[in-house]
Amino acid sequence: MRVCQFNRYGDSSVLDIVEKPPPARAKGEVVVEVKATSINPLDIKIRNGHFFSYIFKLPKTPGGDVAGTVLECSAESKFKKGDRVFGFVMGGTYVEMVAAPEKNLVLIPKAVSFEEAAAASGSAYTAWQALDVDSLKSGQRVLIHGGSGGVGHIAIQLAKAAGAYVITTASAGNFQFVKELGADEVIDYVIADFVAKLKGKPVDLVIDSIGGDYNARSMKVLKRSGRYAHVLANGYARLGYGPNVMGPLLETRDILYGLLMRLLRLGPMYHIVAAHNDLDQLSRIAGLMASGKLKLHIDRRFPLAQVRAAHDHFEFGRPRGKVVIDVK
Ligand SMILES: NC(=O)c1ccc[n+]([C@@H]2O[C@H](COP(=O)([O-])OP(=O)(O)OC[C@H]3O[C@@H](n4cnc5c(N)ncnc54)[C@H](OP(=O)(O)O)[C@@H]3O)[C@@H](O)[C@H]2O)c1
Repeated sequence: MRVCQFNRYGDSSVLDIVEKPPPARAKGEVVVEVKATSINPLDIKIRNGHFFSYIFKLPKTPGGDVAGTVLECSAESKFKKGDRVFGFVMGGTYVEMVAAPEKNLVLIPKAVSFEEAAAASGSAYTAWQALDVDSLKSGQRVLIHGGSGGVGHIAIQLAKAAGAYVITTASAGNFQFVKELGADEVIDYVIADFVAKLKGKPVDLVIDSIGGDYNARSMKVLKRSGRYAHVLANGYARLGYGPNVMGPLLETRDILYGLLMRLLRLGPMYHIVAAHNDLDQLSRIAGLMASGKLKLHIDRRFPLAQVRAAHDHFEFGRPRGKVVIDVK
């Protein structure tokens, strides 16, 4: 099977497509023929060597989102051969076949394509868990940073579906896009300071998928009873901090300060979001997609053979929503 991997850290030119034997299925796993996967900022940060590079063994295959058909499963499996499934899987999904724990997968609803399903899992989990959807109350004011991004464009729709009043930050070219997703107010982060814009009009929840100084600034617009959800953006959305060592140090200081203030009950709830698999959430996400209440916006699709161009577009092309890699 064809596998995308990199043997050293660097720009997209380190990505290669190589041939490897298909994966073997372990207990509790199914082998999925991958139809599509999608790019997440973490794929870029890991490839660049900007995310704890010392913990990974090279060569490494990027990716976690997967949508495809079941090729092999045990007789006891909840799936059968040919089932269309999607979910989030560790260990690399820019591949033609993956052995995936079946506890990480759900069926793709009939009305949903492989590409939409591949675009959903990682970003939708993050948006869902940052919003803590079941705790949202109608009329609550929610500030979603990076509303046009993979996480942000889903968070806007989920928050609106829960009846929240949604304020989002976006650059001018994405105003129309985030308004169509349901945002009630848009702040142009390029020309306006969201702290000044929201002075005297505090919010109940901030979803911060940007990072950097957005952490400390976001705390200023929260109600005392509010919640700050730090999506561990690791410095300015898709770029990360790069080789800048001050960035992570300052952000770590802000995180520790936020956690301490919360511990002393002097600040809003401080929620660090590290997205994790949850089949109930994924089933509900699938249901919302099937009913059309959650629409995944696919900015562009690339075949696996053009994975370098796909990464370049994601990193530098300012895509809206998600970038999908068609594998088969
Ligand atoms: N903790 C977790 O488990 C988890 C899971 C998923 C993602 N993440 C992290 O969350 C972050 C966002 O992920 P994503 O998939 O949504 O990324 P993305 O698709 O690259 O979107 C980032 C968005 O941020 C916007 N943006 C850039 N600078 C901004 C600023 N200063 N103010 C407001 N918006 C700004 C961009 O819009 P413009 O093009 O208009 O600038 C873009 O729409 C990434 O850092 C990612 O690593 C964490």
